[in-house]
Amino acid sequence: MNRKTILAAAVAAALGAGAATALAHTGATGVVKERMEAMKAMGDSMKELTAIMRGQQDYDAGRVRALATRIGVHGGEAMTELFPEGSLDHPSEALPTIWSNWERFSDLAIRLDDYASALAAAADNQRPAGGAMQGQGMMQGQSMMQGQGMMSGGMMGTGQGPTPEMLAQMPPDAVFLHLADTCSACHQDFRKKQN
Ligand code: HEC
Repeated sequence: MNRKTILAAAVAAALGAGAATALAHTGATGVVKERMEAMKAMGDSMKELTAIMRGQQDYDAGRVRALATRIGVHGGEAMTELFPEGSLDHPSEALPTIWSNWERFSDLAIRLDDYASALAAAADNQRPAGGAMQGQGMMQGQSMMQGQGMMSGGMMGTGQGPTPEMLAQMPPDAVFLHLADTCSACHQDFRKKQN
């Protein structure tokens, strides 16, 4: 493995995304390239937020707000306009179900924007006792439970997450998990399986 490959694998591991991801840009053009770059930028912000929430990096509300805002700008219409119908040119990992299930797809894009704003709003809120969340296990466990709750609680399978107003009152750690769930929920349904 050369340096670049090792780095790609490390980034992919941190994100829980497939190891192929960081190399997949090769040959991408036009709107596919644009959205891959936008996703990649969000991935980088999420990676730093993850380090902050785990206590691997000092908690700094201003930094959390900046990272959340940076994610938010890629949500909503900024995201949906990068998915014109049928744009599946190689090496896109997007699934055609995006356009047969456009309502859910665009809901998730809007939710991403809403939850990123909620995280920015919650950045100064009190954090849970003990501060940082401990370890990946807990994060994933909690994240999965919330994901299931959202799915089973949701109507029409769309899932009704908490409102941004509710989130803005929560500890930033909790809001972060909901944001991460939104990334996963969309990838789960609309992106080719990674591995
Ligand atoms: C509304 C749906 C949706 C949301 C929300 C979403 N993604 Fe994605 N993401 C996709 C799709 C679809 C692709 C595949 C795009 C392609 O290859 O054409 C993708 C691809 C990616 C990739 C791979 C990019 C590459 O280089 O190939 C990364 C990294 C990523 N997303 C990170 C994130 C992060 C982090 C979040 C949350 C902060 C997020 N995404 C939220 C739909 C979404």
